[in-house]
Amino acid sequence: MKRYIAAANWKMNKDVPESREFVKELLKKLLNIKDAEVILCPPFTSLFSIGELLKKSKVRLGAQNMHFADSGAFTGEISAGMLKSVYCEYVILGHSERRHVFGETDEDIHKKLLKALEKELKPILCVGETLEERQSGRTIDVLKQQYRAAFDGLSDNDMRRCAIAYEPVWAIGTGVVATPEQASEAHREIRQLIARQFSGDLAQEMRILYGGSVKPENADELIATDEIDGFLVGGAGLKVDSFASIVQSVDNYLQAQE
Ligand code: 13P
Repeated sequence: MKRYIAAANWKMNKDVPESREFVKELLKKLLNIKDAEVILCPPFTSLFSIGELLKKSKVRLGAQNMHFADSGAFTGEISAGMLKSVYCEYVILGHSERRHVFGETDEDIHKKLLKALEKELKPILCVGETLEERQSGRTIDVLKQQYRAAFDGLSDNDMRRCAIAYEPVWAIGTGVVATPEQASEAHREIRQLIARQFSGDLAQEMRILYGGSVKPENADELIATDEIDGFLVGGAGLKVDSFASIVQSVDNYLQAQE
């Protein structure tokens, strides 16, 4: 069975004491979780400290970004090797805020993806269209472009180590969640791209997450959609109760499939 993911992207929120408090509370609430893979992506400053707390748990740690170089004169940047040394297993790449607020290009993201794989981190590649792109009928073209640029030239084995998050920019932090149909359509398109580049089997194996205004109130309906293999959660991942509830939705769905 495919292991669905419930991941929290904290963005620029929570200092070290707040991060530790969250983790201690969350671990108590996840005691009955069996099948969902839970990933926390805190700010860089909290990685080491909560990595220590998570060591004996099944919760995984991810970073929100990294640089593509190994080391050097890149003031303010963090390398893949540094992330490995603070217990990271995953790294989010190409988040829409990186693309649109910080001007990251498809080429930067491709270089980061290759470096993450070389250093044995598992990338979660984010793709998604803006409202304007959707309204002008360009959603599929945007997804194709972002997908192809990121995964160009990858081997099957490297692709297997990646996950993809479809995050429509208009749904991020807006309270406007994609409908199951809108999300399914985008996920199906992404899966077809994988099938064409690699194989149908690999396309089925890959985990494609949905992100954008996921909340406890909409998680059950979204996760029941065939194409959605988990969530990348922003705002609702900042509160223990709401994140634990979303994790529970993912786990309940998986247990019902057994
Ligand atoms: P929200 O859940 O706050 O809409 O954010 C989604 C997101 O950007 C996760 O990476």
